[in-house]
This record gives sequence, C-alpha cells and structure tokens, in this order.
Amino acid sequence: MTDKSKSRGTLSINKEGGEGKPRQAKRPATSRRVNIERDRSKKPAPRPAPETAWKDKAAAEDKPPRARSARSEKPAPERTRARTQEARRDGGEARRRERPAAAPKPERADSRPARIEQFFATCPRGLENALAEELRALGADNIETTGGGVTFFGPMTLCYAANLHSRLATRILLRVSAGKYQNEEDVYQGALAVFWHKWFDVSRTIAVKVVAQDSPLKSLNFITLRIKDGVCDRFREESGQRPSVQTLHPDIRIRAFLTRDRYTLYLDTSGESLYKRGLRKQSGAAPINENLAAGILRLSGWQPDEPLYDPMCGSGTFLMEAAQMALNIAPGLGRDFAFERMLRMDARAWARMKSDAQAACQPVRPLPIYGSDVMGRSLRDADSNLKAAGLREAVTLSKADILEIEPPAKSGVVVMNPPYGVRLGEEEELAALYPKLGDVLKNRFANWRACIISADANLPRLIRLSASKKTPLFNGALECRLYEYKLVAGSNR
Ligand SMILES: C[S@@+](CC[C@H](N)C(=O)[O-])C[C@H]1O[C@@H](n2cnc3c(N)ncnc32)[C@H](O)[C@@H]1O
Repeated sequence: MTDKSKSRGTLSINKEGGEGKPRQAKRPATSRRVNIERDRSKKPAPRPAPETAWKDKAAAEDKPPRARSARSEKPAPERTRARTQEARRDGGEARRRERPAAAPKPERADSRPARIEQFFATCPRGLENALAEELRALGADNIETTGGGVTFFGPMTLCYAANLHSRLATRILLRVSAGKYQNEEDVYQGALAVFWHKWFDVSRTIAVKVVAQDSPLKSLNFITLRIKDGVCDRFREESGQRPSVQTLHPDIRIRAFLTRDRYTLYLDTSGESLYKRGLRKQSGAAPINENLAAGILRLSGWQPDEPLYDPMCGSGTFLMEAAQMALNIAPGLGRDFAFERMLRMDARAWARMKSDAQAACQPVRPLPIYGSDVMGRSLRDADSNLKAAGLREAVTLSKADILEIEPPAKSGVVVMNPPYGVRLGEEEELAALYPKLGDVLKNRFANWRACIISADANLPRLIRLSASKKTPLFNGALECRLYEYKLVAGSNR
C-alpha cells in the first residue's frame, strides 16, 4: 500500500455504510496492553474483584513485546522463529500452556466475575459521541471515541446488549488479538496464534476483511489471504479440519485493521450491519441508513413525545426509527447476530435479554409522527415498510409537495434528507426549490426546529435561513452536513 491514505481489502469495512476504522485503543490508564485470547480450559484466568476485573485481567494477560533491536541482530531464519514466538505471546497463546489438562474445569459459576473484553463499535462518522453516550447507558466502561467508532470494555453480555439495543452502531467488533508487525508473516503468525476454535466451530463459513491505514504492506488482497491462512492453519492444527470461506454471506466475519506497524484482529459479533434491522422491505431511490437516521434524530434533540414531521419521507426511514424509539422497540429484535453462532455463547443470558426487550416494547398506538412525499411510489414504499414492521398505526402519511405542506402541530421537529442533485437538470431544480423551502419553513413552521441533512454545498446559501448548528456527518462515503434551523416567526433571515 504505497498510498498514504486509507487502503481497503477486496471487501473493506468502510464500504458498508461508511463504517469507521477501528483504532488502536488507548488502554485504561492503569492497565498495560490487553491480550484477549486465552485457553481457559487449560489455565483458568485469575478471579479479580468485579470492580477491578478489567485492570487485573490486563495486568495478568499482558506482556510487552520483545525488544525489536535484539531481533535485528539475528540471521533471517532465527528472526522468523523469534517473530513466531513473539506473535504467539502477543496473541496470548503460549505453547507451553498446551500440556494435557488434569480434568476438565467446570463451567464458570454465575457468581464468578465475567471476563472483560475489549470491543470496537463502528458508526457513521459524526455520530461517535452520540454512540458513546448510547453505549455508556448500556453499561460500557472505559469508552473512547475515534474517527468512525468507539472503543469500550465490558463482558460479552454487554456485546449482546449493544447489538440488540444500539440504534447508532453499524457493527460491534470483539478484539481477539493485536500486535506489532513488519511484514505479512508477522500478521499471519498473529492470526495463527489465536484460538479461533474456542470462538467458533470449524463447520462455520468465514470471511476476512482488512482495512489498512499507512500500512507498508504491498497488497491488501495478499494480507487478507494470509490472515485467512492463519485462521485455517490454527483449525487444522487443532482438529485436522479447516473452515470454508464464503465471502458473501459468511457465518463468521473476521476483521483486521492495520496501521503503520500494528495489526488488530477482531471477530465481528454483528454479522449483517446493524442498520439492517430486518424491517425495511422497500428501499426507494436514495434511502438513508437506519443508524444514520436514528443518529440525526438524536442530534436533533427530538423527544419521543414531540411532534416529528418528515416532508420528504421517501421509504420512511426517519418515521420508522422515530416510531421505534417512541415505543421503546429495541432495533435488533427483528434479526439475528453473528455472536449467536459463536461458541462461549451464554444462550440463557441472551434469551433473557431478548425477552426483557420484548416485554419493554410499548403497544403500537397513534403517535405525533408525520410523513409526506410528492411521489406516490415513495409513499407506497413507506406505507408497506411501516405495515411490515407493525408500525403503520403509529404514523400519519400523506401525499404532498413540500411547498404545500402545513404544520401538523404548533411546534415540533422537521427532519428530512432532500434529494441530492447529481445531474445538471436536478441541480437546477433543487436550486429553484431551496429558497421556496426556506420560505415555507420560515412562514409556516414558526416554533419548530428543522434539521436537514445534505451533501449539497449550495443548500445553506440558497435556503436563506441562518443555521443555528452545522454538524459534519457522513452518509456512507458522502460528506454531508446536518443543518439545524430554529424557526422563530419574523426572524431567522
Ligand atoms: C433522498 S429521498 C429521501 C429518502 C428517505 N429519507 C428514505 O430514507 O427513504 C428524497 C425524497 O424527496 C422526495 N421529494 C422530492 N421533491 C419533493 C417535493 N417537492 N416535495 C415532497 N417530496 C419531494 C422524493 O420523492 C424522495 O422520496
């Protein structure tokens, strides 16, 4: 990768809805680097007190990498051997642990503190702080935001909760290994060192995706293959069998993130991106992703009892997200997750969590949530999506040109993503529409707030309203701004 900017593998994390790059998280101040993998059946982890569990775990499992300077004096074959040993240590898999176990250890009793893991939640860029708040409310610890995501610590049950309840995350990644590297062999050894067979069965299909930033490696395709080789060779060593690769719909996705000199390996606990809620059946022409829509609602400050109006509703994404928030419907209730296909899965805790979430849903009722669109086809999409989600009763839909709309209440929040003109004719149409849209909002929607997401650099000038807030946001790879207008009768121009 000679390119200094971010490079992508055949299938990069960032392609899907602008997911961010996981970064090498700073560890909690008192810990050293955390090695994630451990063969617990052979050497059980110490039992720290719950409140200090993550600190003690970090201290117990971590070992600083061996000094590089010593290696450079060794001849090449010895260097490779040394790197292999180092990678095994970095991945937390010491060969010497592989002595026959005296007797199988019983499963961890419920009273024992849960093992603390490190996670990285990806999200559309611009939503990191809102996602951090959401994860904190779910019980995440030691949260740190970075471009495109949030690092956090907690037990595996927190990862189930984040997948089930997060409206803003795109994926929840579980860190399984990390270390320094100089070449492909180092990363291969890192992948080989992980006890993958403790996380998933060999019968599961796998896919590896790599994102790299400033990596000195020449080919992302090649390093993707080498990581896959490391995973398969680990399985072969353990069982004589290897998992099959399935790039489109794998059971298990392995993600790698490479910086200039460090690699991090993750297991993707989500599977399909979390914005795929399993609810939207029709997507219309330019739908916004569900987690971006939910993030915009969060940033708008909309409260579930406040009127909400999307006058360019398309397939109804804002309406569906708002209705689910107002009715306390967990976004993940209608789908499955990759962690359900993993070993070490606490099926009882997961079943309990899902049934609690189900019980917390409020019955569907009419809500002050309104949508309209000029296109009959878009409205039909919104109608069938809301029906399929069982939310049709909660939302009022109507067919209207935005220039003819009237406010459905005295105050509330208008939210929309207007079409973005890519062809010349469309650009001209939009340029004519924006000033009139500004007039409609100013003259008819006094006491409302309007939140408009757009990638169109002309919008702020042409709408002729002064924005009270501008928030940079990414819709996939498209750089946008969320403009907030506080509409007060007789002012704002
Ligand atoms: C980018 S799409 C919105 C997508 C929507 N947020 C979703 O997630 O499906 C823009 C929508 O604006 C609608 N639209 C365009 N011009 C309009 C107008 N003058 N009045 C009302 N709706 C309009 C289009 O029909 C289209 O559905």
